[in-house]
Amino acid sequence: MTALPMIEIKNVDKVFGNFRALDTLNASIGEGEFFSLLGPSGCGKTTLLRMIGGFDEPTSGTILIGGKSMAGIPPNLRPTNMVFQSYAIFPHLNVFENIAYGLKRLRLGREEEESRVSQALAQVELTGLGPRMGNQLSGGQRQRVALARALVMRPKVLLLDEPLSALDKNLREQMQVELRHLQRQIGITFVLVTHDQYEALSMSDRIAVMFSGQIAQIAEPKEIYQNPATRQVADFLGGMNFLTASDVAVNGKGFKAALPGFGAISGHLSGKAISDPAQAIIGIRPERLRIVWEGETADPMISGKVVDRNYFGEVTSLVVAIEGQAEHVSIVETNDFGADDIPVGSDIRITYDPDAFVIMQG
Ligand SMILES: Nc1ncnc2c1ncn2[C@@H]1O[C@H](COP(=O)(O)OP(=O)(O)O)[C@@H](O)[C@H]1O
Ligand SMILES: [Mg+2]
Repeated sequence: MTALPMIEIKNVDKVFGNFRALDTLNASIGEGEFFSLLGPSGCGKTTLLRMIGGFDEPTSGTILIGGKSMAGIPPNLRPTNMVFQSYAIFPHLNVFENIAYGLKRLRLGREEEESRVSQALAQVELTGLGPRMGNQLSGGQRQRVALARALVMRPKVLLLDEPLSALDKNLREQMQVELRHLQRQIGITFVLVTHDQYEALSMSDRIAVMFSGQIAQIAEPKEIYQNPATRQVADFLGGMNFLTASDVAVNGKGFKAALPGFGAISGHLSGKAISDPAQAIIGIRPERLRIVWEGETADPMISGKVVDRNYFGEVTSLVVAIEGQAEHVSIVETNDFGADDIPVGSDIRITYDPDAFVIMQG
């Protein structure tokens, strides 16, 4: 985090009846930061976002915004604005009226109101669409209007609950880039809820990964992907090979392990605490295992047998048996060297960067 904390979440619990939806959450979100809450459906992302926005109160714990406790402060008196998962655009109002809707209670006067709406329209690249009726908009345009409706209130924090999940893949990816640009341009804090790991990785300054009402890890995207704190985080962020180690030793800032089929390996903890080394797991991402092609040599170099092959267009995923490892490992190679032509059943040679191994708490 680079700036002052804009949002501080301190020991926040939320209990519905006898169900603990959020359990002792702690996080600090910086001014101007793009922060994502990432986790599977039902893990508590929306519940936390609603409490930041004032639509619900924590059972215990405190949420501060700009250093001020938000306890008992209703949504309209918080420096936040929310783009809901199902953004309801008024179909009988035009785009201008939809965006101006929340401004009415501020009684700014017509001129100021028009200038704010025009600015919001420009921010979401809808200039000129003011007169279009709400029921004449495409999905992408509706999403932009919902965004403009929140931005026009000039919040210090924009809260976004899966704002892109209703869009099809191409439009979603385009909007991800635009939303990120917009956030950089206006410089306010964004808190984005998503269950899509690529969305979180590509857009965020930092990510909080949540499971079952708890935060498993808060870190920058690269750190979350390359150095997941737990097996659960590693699994949620895409493929990870979990390797059987005959011996794992954690020592200060590093670890050593003996991996059957690989030999002795070592790596770094990167600030991560391994509370129970006996339960620690060694992992490597599929794209960090590389094929050693004919005529090449490498150090280290191990051998394996291809047992299955899956073609994905730009990459091929090979399922490989390595002697001594109980589970098959997955290797992902781009198709420019012919990974898509390797016959199932063939023997291959594999290399890796020894730094690519990570240790996780099981
Ligand atoms: N008002 C409520 N009453 C009871 N249970 C709720 C309520 N709101 C959310 N929950 C439960 O809390 C858990 C977290 O929900 P939610 O925050 O919506 O998850 P997410 O947004 O991560 O999918 C779920 O099990 C959900 O059923
Ligand atoms: Mg949700």
